[in-house]
Amino acid sequence: MKGTYMKRIAINTGGGDAPGLNAVIRAIVLSASNLGWEVVGIREGYNGLLAPNDYPNGGLMPLHKSTVRGITHLGGTILGTTNKGNPLEYPVQKADGSWDTVDRSDDLIRAFEREGIDALIAIGGDGSLGIANALAEKGLKVVGVPKTIDNDLEGTTVTFGFDSAVSFATESLDRLHSTAEAHQRIMVTEVMGRYAGWIALHAGIAGAADAILIPEIPYDINKVANKIFRRETAGRKYTLVVVAEGAFPAGGDVVEENRGPGRSPQLGGIGKIVSTQLAEITGKESRHVVLGHLLRGGSPTSFDRLLSLRFGAAAVRALKEGVSGVMVALDPPTVQHVPLSEATSRMKSVPLDCDTMLTARELGISFGD
Ligand code: F6P
Repeated sequence: MKGTYMKRIAINTGGGDAPGLNAVIRAIVLSASNLGWEVVGIREGYNGLLAPNDYPNGGLMPLHKSTVRGITHLGGTILGTTNKGNPLEYPVQKADGSWDTVDRSDDLIRAFEREGIDALIAIGGDGSLGIANALAEKGLKVVGVPKTIDNDLEGTTVTFGFDSAVSFATESLDRLHSTAEAHQRIMVTEVMGRYAGWIALHAGIAGAADAILIPEIPYDINKVANKIFRRETAGRKYTLVVVAEGAFPAGGDVVEENRGPGRSPQLGGIGKIVSTQLAEITGKESRHVVLGHLLRGGSPTSFDRLLSLRFGAAAVRALKEGVSGVMVALDPPTVQHVPLSEATSRMKSVPLDCDTMLTARELGISFGD
């Protein structure tokens, strides 16, 4: 395929951060610089283009090889990120003080033209890549890179950030194991993941949890308690339960709070509820731990570093080949690309018949069903 020459490309990081963002940025900058392209980073999602005057040196950060030296192992993102400035639902305050949202995607397209940016590499989860898809439909050259600790994006076997989150949660479970056993307690660990149970499932199995509650399987708390009673009878006086933040009881609701216009709800709190209920039903002592943002911070695992570097290089390769409107995706053993529209069309839930689920069931892990 004939190569496409770009003069200037932009990178942005949007939504919640995930370990590996800086590694993707480094791979993009090195690959693109080696082609002779100029790279700029948009600060804090799209805010750097929509509100450049809010930033000390303007909303764009020049990215050179020297800028990205030594950042592969660093958590966070050197560009900053936000889950507030969605250009499709940009929050604006009305005269009466209340808030509304407006579509600023045309402003954004004009800002790309004004800055002489030929193409965008958008690193994000479902929300950010949905925005990227909308921009692609308006004619901007865009390649997406799948980021999220939640692993809930269609079209890729795995997103970067997921392995780091699972590794940290697993290590936390190892630590909780010994203290739970020493005190003969129930220990409930709540993990992030939004409306998908990937982190809970993978960490729960790897960390030898006895029960795992995920959004894909509405639970019955009495069935979880029965698992605890069976363990007691077998002489196992402690129990580890992992609860995905999006888990909910059969006939009940997800614990979430509305965060206002243009923002997704904030999940969290189910771990405490499960812990309290299990203590009441079993008469045992129970404690709960919320791992929360600890799952997002810190260094990426070696798996995530390599995946991020591969994704970054593949995104530049796609642009070089003249491909746009796609997301790079892991399809072992290679990195392919899939249409952004397909990747963002629906959330990737845990399939109940997947090998990992079967494994958990065969190990005797309870899902409260
Ligand atoms: O999507 C990543 C994620 O960490 C979710 O697992 C979690 O529900 C959400 O972001 C938390 O967002 P915030 O950083 O706004 O609290």
